[in-house]
Amino acid sequence: MLQTITWTGEAARLLDQTRLPTETVYVDITNEKQMWDAIRRLVVRGAPAIGVAAAFGLYLGIKNERPSELFAFYSKLNEVADYLATSRPTAVNLFWALDRMRRVAREAGRGTSNLEPRDAIDMIKNRLLHECLEMIEEDTRVCRAIGEHGLALLKQITNPKSKMGNPMEVLTHCNAGGLATVQYGTALAPIYVGAERGMRFHVWSDETRPLVQGSRITAYELQANNIPVTVICDSMAATVMKQGGIDVAIVGADRVAANGDVANKIGTLSVAILAKHFKIPFFVAAPTSSIDLSLATGDQIPIEERNPDEISRGLGAQTAPDDVDIYNPAFDVTPAELVTAIITEKGVVRPPYVKNLAKAVRGEPKKKEPAKPKKKRARSKVKR
Ligand code: MRU
Repeated sequence: MLQTITWTGEAARLLDQTRLPTETVYVDITNEKQMWDAIRRLVVRGAPAIGVAAAFGLYLGIKNERPSELFAFYSKLNEVADYLATSRPTAVNLFWALDRMRRVAREAGRGTSNLEPRDAIDMIKNRLLHECLEMIEEDTRVCRAIGEHGLALLKQITNPKSKMGNPMEVLTHCNAGGLATVQYGTALAPIYVGAERGMRFHVWSDETRPLVQGSRITAYELQANNIPVTVICDSMAATVMKQGGIDVAIVGADRVAANGDVANKIGTLSVAILAKHFKIPFFVAAPTSSIDLSLATGDQIPIEERNPDEISRGLGAQTAPDDVDIYNPAFDVTPAELVTAIITEKGVVRPPYVKNLAKAVRGEPKKKEPAKPKKKRARSKVKR
C-alpha cells in the first residue's frame, strides 16, 4: 500500500497528491507553515489524513521552542494550533486532531512541577511526537476495522450476478481510499479487506469535478492495488445505475452531524439521490473521529468554498470564459434519510442516527450485524 504520511525523524513526509496520477513524489514538511500550505493546497487531503497531518504540523511548530516558562510554551502551542485550524474548514478530523494534541500537552504538563520548565517542555514535546506516531498506527487500525465491518455489510447485499462469478459492482465518489487516510481508507477499506479474502469487486469511480480526485487518485490507488476500476464523469452515474451496473454506492465523509447528515465531497448528494431513485444501498464509511455531535444537523457544517480557478482552469486548459461568475463549494451535505447506513470502526450504525451515532461515539458496544439468513440447501439427489 502507498504511504500517505510517514515520519522521517526530522520531517513529516507526504505523498504529494496534487501531482497524481502522473508523478509519485514525496515532500518533506518541516514546519507548521509548510503543513498549513500542504493541507490548503491538497498535497495531503481526505479527512483522516488531514487530521494526522495537522497533528504533525502542530508538533513541528513547537519542536524547536525552548522558552524558560511553561505558560509561554503553551501559548505558542495554542497559537500554532489555532493557525493550523484555519487551513480548511469542513473536515472535522482537523479540529479533532488539534484538540487531542492540546489535551495531551495539558495532561503531560500536569505533575511536572518537580522539573525545570525546560525539562518539562522537552517531556511534553516527546509526548506530543509519540501521540502523532500513535495517530498513524490508530488510523491504520481504525480503517482496517471499518473494512471488516463494511465487508460484513456488503456480504448482505443480494447480488445475483456475483453468484455467477461476477464481481460486486461498487460506485464511489472522490477518494476515500488509503490516500485519504494513513492506509486502507474508509469507503475503499471493505474492498481491500474483501479482495484479500478472494472476493471480487469492480469499482466505478466518479471523476469528481472540479479537482478530479476520483480519476486522479481513486483510480490510481485501485490500479496500484490490482482492483479493477472504471472511471466515469460525474454526470454518467445515473446512466450506469439505470443500466443495472451498480450494486452499492460507498463514500467517505468529512463530517457527520449528530442527526446523520453527511458532509462529503461536492457531488455526493447527487449520488445519494440517484441511489435512492434506483433503490441502491448508499453507505457512508467514516471513523467516529469524523462524527461531530456538537452539530445537531448538517446545515451547521461549514462548507469550504474554493478558488474559482479550480473550475475555470483546474484541468490545465481554460474551460470557462474570462471573468465569468463561478461558484465552487467543495462539499455538500447529504441528508440522513438518504443514508442507508454509516460504517464506523465500532460497527455499522443504522437509523435512528441521533441515538445510534451518539452510542457509537461514546463507544457503547454495538450488536453485531445480523448474518444474512442462509437458504436451506436443496438435498443432493446424488447418492453417496
Ligand atoms: O477535498 P478533499 O480531497 O480533501 O475531499 C475529500 C473527501 O471528500 C473525502 O471523501 C472525505 O474526506 C473522506 S476521506 C476518507
